[in-house]
Formats: sequence, structure tokens, C-alpha cells
Amino acid sequence: MVQRREAPRWNGTRWYRPPRAFLDDQLGFPLRKMQELGEIFWFDFYLRRIFVITDLEAIRHILQVNHRNYHKSPAYGQLKLALGNGLVTSEGDFWRRQRRIIQPVFHKRNLRGLYALMQEETENYCRRLDGRRGQALDMAQEMMAVTANIALRTLFSTQNPTDQAEMYRIMSEAQEWIMYRTTHPLFIPLAWLAPRHRRFLRDMRKMDDLVYGMIEARRRADDYPDDLLSMLLHARDADTGEAMTDRQIRDEVLTLFAAGHETSATAMSWTLWLLSRHPEVAQRLEAELDEVLGGRLPEWDDLPRLKWTQQVLQESMRLYPPAYAIGRQALVADELCGYHVPPRSIMFISIYALHRHPRYYARPDRFDPEHFAEAAVRERPRLSYIPFGAGPRMCVGNHFAMIEMTLLLAALWQRFRFEPVPDHPVEPNPLVTLKPKYGIRMVVR
Ligand code: HEM
Repeated sequence: MVQRREAPRWNGTRWYRPPRAFLDDQLGFPLRKMQELGEIFWFDFYLRRIFVITDLEAIRHILQVNHRNYHKSPAYGQLKLALGNGLVTSEGDFWRRQRRIIQPVFHKRNLRGLYALMQEETENYCRRLDGRRGQALDMAQEMMAVTANIALRTLFSTQNPTDQAEMYRIMSEAQEWIMYRTTHPLFIPLAWLAPRHRRFLRDMRKMDDLVYGMIEARRRADDYPDDLLSMLLHARDADTGEAMTDRQIRDEVLTLFAAGHETSATAMSWTLWLLSRHPEVAQRLEAELDEVLGGRLPEWDDLPRLKWTQQVLQESMRLYPPAYAIGRQALVADELCGYHVPPRSIMFISIYALHRHPRYYARPDRFDPEHFAEAAVRERPRLSYIPFGAGPRMCVGNHFAMIEMTLLLAALWQRFRFEPVPDHPVEPNPLVTLKPKYGIRMVVR
């Protein structure tokens, strides 16, 4: 009989105490302890265990081989309040059906159709930025605004600035409220009494009116614009031929907006900051953009030729992965690389620590896009770089994101320079995504 082995344990906490060292430092703690305890270790988390994982075999097991035993961690329950039962928050057969319907929407052919909308929004943004040269701006906030506009434009092709601003406001405030609830679990039973909760419910009703209004108008219209909403309305389950209900479309629209814009904005902000500190990388970027584009906005067919631009983005997401960890919980007991996993254990796959593992990157803390040269990528195991996750729940918008960011970076870097404001602290803050804690203040030239 196989003996049940326990994985190495971090003894720094007890079941009745919050694991402060981990909760206060969700980036550095896994990185340090991985070196001390190994690539799979666990500690007490009230009546559960948290396993911290950077081992590739374990990652493959949780996200691919036995993914049916690992549902998303409890924090996702709170997200349902705003996003309903969309791709990010659903599980099991319901999720499988939704994924089957939505995956083809993100096929390259469809993304090509959306590209013109991305270009227009990028151009609009560059025009606005042009009028603000010489000013110190928080580029993290700027990137949030531009990726939100791209997301709303590709979803609805709407150019109604009032609707766009209102949707952006509602989603940002909703996210703050949900984050507050997730980090204050003892407060949740009383949360419905808080005025802020009533405001949240009012806002979500307003959002529903806007989205359902657009769905209804679209169903009545004779011709459909080329945007994600049209694609979702037309999408059918390949197995059953069924379409989505209005409620499902509403949930998926909000999910795509929420999942799609902050992640890309975060990656863009770190990229601008890293480039400002590495002139040799920036010069090579400038040379590539000159050679391939000669001052114009990239067209669809230019994208594969912007190799260095894409390596820069990949390297930036290695050091500052917007989704810095993937959380799962075990439904039933399991065996993970020979170690026992009790039911309800939480699996914390630290993408941040994995991406800085000295086994895969000789100088892990150095910003060097050569890490993504073809030969270097071939030499590394595939799962050693997973900014978009892995397995059946891998990011459905990964190509969308790479296209959007390549376009944005190429457009911005051809026309502007960004100088960091001296003495402004820049520090990653692991919230929903890995945002810069104090923003990234830069003077636009
Ligand atoms: C740099 C940008 C992005 C990053 C780093 C990123 C990262 C991720 C990661 C790591 C996951 C897997 C989470 C897990 O397994 O728990 C994920 C899932 C997802 N992402 Fe992205 N994402 C990005 C952009 C986008 C965009 C642009 C969209 C949509 C337009 C999008 C839509 C989604 C959806 C719907 C899921 C859930 C998929 C499922 O569970 O079936 N993401 N993303």
C-alpha cells in the first residue's frame, strides 16, 4: 500500500491565528519559503490548509490532470454579486457549456474584426495624451481608462461617452466594494445594512438597465455591428445548437469587461515603468517600431513582425504577472506528487514566485526580454511561464490581450516618452491584480 506522506509544513502559524506573514506579503513570502521548504508546502488556515505551490508537476495536476477536483477558491463567491454566473465565476457543467459557446468568439478571425475598434480607441487616446505633454500623470490610472474604453468599445461598439463613463464608474466602485467584503469576511453577514451596499445594488440595477437595453436594441435591429455583443448574441453551443439567454449574455458581458481591462492595464503600466528604467531595451523597441511601422499605427498584418515589442510585454508579465496567483480549493481528498491533500484545502499557485524561479531564469530579477527569444522559450518547460493560467480554465482572452497591448505599446512608444517622477515610490500591491500601490507617476514628453 502507498504510504500517505505529508508535504513540508510552515510552522509559523496555528489554525486559530491568521497567517500574517503570508497575508501581509503574498508575493515575497511564497518566493522566500519556496527556497526554504520546497515547491510544495502548506500551513494552517483556520480549519483548512493552504498549499503554496510552484512545482510544475503539481501545477499540471491541479490545473489540467485532475482539474475537476479543484474548483475556484471561496473569494470568487463574492464576485458573483456583480458578475453573476459568467465564465470566471461558474463551475462544472454550466461552466463547460459557457466555455464551449464563448471560446470560438475569441477565435483569431473574430479578433481581426475587433481590431479596427481597438485601433480607433488607441488613436483617440493618443490624441488626448498629446494635449497633456509636460504633465505628470498616473500612468496606472491612464492605462485603466484606455483599456476600459477598448473593452467597452469592442463589447458594444458604443461611442456614447456618458454610458461609457457610467459603466466604468459602476464597475470600478463595485470592484472596490467586493474587494472590501472579501478581505473582511466577518463583516459579510451585516453587509446588507451598509449604505454602501445599497448604493452597490442601485448601481448594479443601473448597469443591468444599460446592458439589457443594449441587448434588446440589438435583437430588434436589422444589421449588427461587428462587436463582441453581436458575437455573443449569435454564438451557439456546438453540441446542442442552443443560444444564451439574455441573463447569461449580461453575465458574460460584465465578466469580459471585468476580467479583460484591469489585467491588461496593469501589464501596460509595469511595462512603461520597466522601459523607463532600461534604456537599452527601450532603444531596441524604438528601432523595431521605426523599422516595421515608420511612424504609423500597426495594422493587423504588422503584429507578428513586432517581435521585440511582444517580448518586452512577455518579460514585463514575467516579473509583474497581473494575475499573480491562481487559487483553487480541493473538493475531495487527493494525492499531489505523492503528498496528501485533505478535502477543502486551498491551493495557492504563486505565479509571481514561479516566474522568478532561478531554475528557469538564470538572473530571475533582471528585466531582459531576451528571456523570450525563441531558443530560450524552447529550452524552458512550458508551464514555467503562465501569466494567462493553464489547462481548461486558461484565459479565454489571451490573444485579445496580446493584440491590444502590442497595439497600445507600439502606438504610445512611437509618439511619447515617459519619465518617472523622481522619488515617487513604485511598489507592487497584490489585490485582485498586481497593481502599483501608489500608481506610477510619469511626465509625458
Ligand atoms: C494581460 C492581460 C490578462 C491576463 C494576465 C489574464 C490572466 C488570466 C488568468 C491567469 C486566468 C485564469 C484564472 C484561473 O485559472 O483561475 C484568466 C481567466 C480569464 N480571463 Fe484573462 N487575462 C488577461 C486578459 C483578459 C482579457 C482581455 C479577457 C477578455 C476580453 C479575459 C477574460 C478572461 C476570462 C473570461 C477568464 C475565465 C476563463 C474560464 O474560467 O473559462 N482576460 N485570465
